[in-house]
Amino acid sequence: MARYLVTGGAGFIGSNFVHYLIDHTDHHVTVLDKLTYAGNLASLSGLPETRLTFVRGDVADAELVDDLVATADAVVHYAAESHNDNSLNFPEPFVHTNVIGTFTLLEAVRKHDVRLHHVSTDEVYGDLELDDPARFTESSPYHPSSPYSSTKAGSDMLVRAWVRSYGVTATISNCSNNYGPFQHVEKFIPRQITNILWGIRPKLYGDGRNVRDWIHADDHSSAVLQILEAGRAGETYLIGADGEKDNKTVVELILTMMGQDTEAYDNVADRSGHDLRYAIDSTKLRTELGWRPRYADFEEGLSATIDWYRDHEDWWAPAKRATEAFYAQLGQ
Ligand code: NAD
Ligand code: DAU
Repeated sequence: MARYLVTGGAGFIGSNFVHYLIDHTDHHVTVLDKLTYAGNLASLSGLPETRLTFVRGDVADAELVDDLVATADAVVHYAAESHNDNSLNFPEPFVHTNVIGTFTLLEAVRKHDVRLHHVSTDEVYGDLELDDPARFTESSPYHPSSPYSSTKAGSDMLVRAWVRSYGVTATISNCSNNYGPFQHVEKFIPRQITNILWGIRPKLYGDGRNVRDWIHADDHSSAVLQILEAGRAGETYLIGADGEKDNKTVVELILTMMGQDTEAYDNVADRSGHDLRYAIDSTKLRTELGWRPRYADFEEGLSATIDWYRDHEDWWAPAKRATEAFYAQLGQ
């Protein structure tokens, strides 16, 4: 039994990881989460109290983080400001949480010699052309586009420097776009599903040809656990499930699966600096650690996700109106 500290464990991917860890191991989990608009304690409800401790706080609070890291065997760092559209309008919290927060955590794991896994994104590599046969690998150059991705790139660089200069025991993973339960309704897939459930037409940015490489959040969790258990210290692993789809195809799939006309969506203003395509080559993770995704079929995972949102309106409805009001101001 180990003691895991999970930052951002009340957010989308963090809460999925906490469920996964409790279901698949006997570890104790302490969640540190500030409960911003993106954090939701309801995402952790039903988990056994003996296995889970929740602490509300800021990952950039050095004293609090030092106390929590001192009693942990491993730290898994999910806490972040995560939404590109917010980062374009309000970049400051992204610098605070993603850069200063990661720095604060690094200083604590350095002091207490605790293992860290830093959760990052494929967006640090920028974007690819639609017809480019290449995919991102661990040696792709960093080329972030947005305030969000640049602060995540900065956090990765801090981790690399603390590994090399101070010998901190850390791994990094860069994952592609996640979908699944507990994802905030500001994000693409849950926004369109919950729009349809409320009789609002789905909204596609620009012409919808932008490509994202989709992976179910459970598959992200199994990969992170595998890296924690068998990954080599100092290494970076890319996580992806060969799930490339353009946004128009995804909207049409959701409409079809929910019994609507495939053309019943609106094209709205495009995102500034909108990355064209992401694609992950996860050969290293698969060959070195033997990882495989469980949701190899995107449509199966998407259908389960639609069912989850249909069944959990109490979880997402409180955030829906404010989210749509924000998008309406942006013309999106
Ligand atoms: P999210 O926005 O759903 O959740 C973020 C969580 O962090 C929330 O619970 C929030 O309350 C918490 N948080 C924010 N600021 C904090 C602070 N200062 N101190 C403590 N807690 C704070 O994000 P997500 O989509 O679950 O992403 C989690 C991590 O995974 C991020 O690091 C993100 O960069 C990375 N990631 C996300 C995706 C994706 O598709 N969503 C893909 C790859 C990597
Ligand atoms: O690639 C990993 C990244 O994936 C993570 O690091 C980010 O935290 C996560 O938010 C996600 O970033 P994206 O910007 O790709 O995700 P988002 O859900 O915001 O948008 C997905 C695509 O859909 C993108 O091309 C923009 C488009 N979009 C989005 C919304 C919200 C629309 O067309 N309509 C919409 O309403």
